[in-house]
Amino acid sequence: MQELDIKKRKLIEFLTEKNILISPDFLNDLNSVEPSAISELINKKLNETEIHHKTDKIRETGSVKVVFSYAGQPKKSTAQDFINHFNSRYNSLKKLLQQRAQLENVTSVSRLKTKSEKENVAVIGMVYSKEDTKNGIMLTVEDPTGSTKVFFGKNKQDIFSKAKDIVMDEVLGITGVSGKGIIFGNGIFSPDIPLTKEIKKSPEEENVLFMSDLHIGSKKFLEEEFMKFISWIKGELGNEKQKELSSKVKYIFFTGDMIDGISIYPTQREELNIMTFKEQYRKLAEYLKMIPENIQLIICPGQHDVVPIAEPQPPLPKEYCSELYELPNVTFVSNPAMVNIGAKEGFSGFDVLLYHGASYNYYADKVESIRMQKPNLSERSENVMKFLLQKRHLAPTYDGYPRLATEVDHLIIDRIPDIFISADVHKHSTFTYKNAITGIISSCFQSKTSFQEKVGHNPEPGIIPLLNLKTREIKILNFGGTQEK
Ligand SMILES: [Fe+2]
Repeated sequence: MQELDIKKRKLIEFLTEKNILISPDFLNDLNSVEPSAISELINKKLNETEIHHKTDKIRETGSVKVVFSYAGQPKKSTAQDFINHFNSRYNSLKKLLQQRAQLENVTSVSRLKTKSEKENVAVIGMVYSKEDTKNGIMLTVEDPTGSTKVFFGKNKQDIFSKAKDIVMDEVLGITGVSGKGIIFGNGIFSPDIPLTKEIKKSPEEENVLFMSDLHIGSKKFLEEEFMKFISWIKGELGNEKQKELSSKVKYIFFTGDMIDGISIYPTQREELNIMTFKEQYRKLAEYLKMIPENIQLIICPGQHDVVPIAEPQPPLPKEYCSELYELPNVTFVSNPAMVNIGAKEGFSGFDVLLYHGASYNYYADKVESIRMQKPNLSERSENVMKFLLQKRHLAPTYDGYPRLATEVDHLIIDRIPDIFISADVHKHSTFTYKNAITGIISSCFQSKTSFQEKVGHNPEPGIIPLLNLKTREIKILNFGGTQEK
């Protein structure tokens, strides 16, 4: 045992020296191997392309620490990749679900056969199919040992309405009564966020801005409004109070769609004034260079950026935006990603989960309780974010949005963020989830496009949410009209 501990410590030191982040799963693997098998495990992990690791491409600046950024190389997915992907999802979420008292004694699906009829049972499964029937909802759920039908009858209204919101491929806990090859469900459990997590506050007053969807290169990019923001952030614009706010800005997050891109939709060329990716990023670098260097900028891509659309999307590539990489204060991360900001001696900082949010439309449309809340699709993102925090997954339905079948499912929310940020809908919104997580959707610096006109989106450009890390209060800055709302 002692030999194992020494080897483990040495291994952790070795990996840290190599700048490789160690996942909790890897440590678990370590606990289950013999000391003699450790070297083999290291080699296996080092050869894996999708290990959570920092590479030279991921630059960290100032007090920004990259907790997770996807750095895998694009490759063709095999059937085995899909199996590994879904197993990784199932196992991670199962661990979270098993922390719930109601699911402590879950049984595997294959063992359901050993249960007598009308016995209370609990299973953890992934949703394989969902059908509306005359009397209720019929699911097929799977675990690694097999599949079973689960029925939620309309006669139990509470549980039936919960069942209506179940989406394909999500992992959930189910309690119920056993029947012949079926469970009559009476409880549905999502992994969710535990209530015990307290809201964190920084010992120092530091402000963070949340921006996205600049769409540089589009004729609709609002340069005048953006330059107003630049003047303010440089301390050249605003009254004393407004200048004090800008002087305390230490971080700016840019959650994707930095440029408008090329050929993203059929008639886009007519709406562009910069016609190449490289020129669009060059112009972006010119703007970001004007922001004082002591402010850390964190950038993840969105679906208009130059990276492949399937998620997780890698960080912006240097070959397309070398001028951006010359800026000393930029950290490039994937979409999704997690970074830690504001850490100080004796204070662990804030974990910020960044996700552009392109998958949200699917849930805004498919989940009835979300669909019923707001008539306009683009106004439902806040509810989708809360829904996905419950699921502990950024996009549970595999077919809901283009996805890579990575060996590990990187869209799982395994580490609970302090701040969860998204973008995409060009309209800001803020919320608090379970008194622990600050949720923020940033706005944009692009006026309404013909595409948005067609789909009925109503962007509100020029608005920037500002979060004070000491008080956790949010102010909404408006560069689209008056200085501060
Ligand atoms: Fe956008």
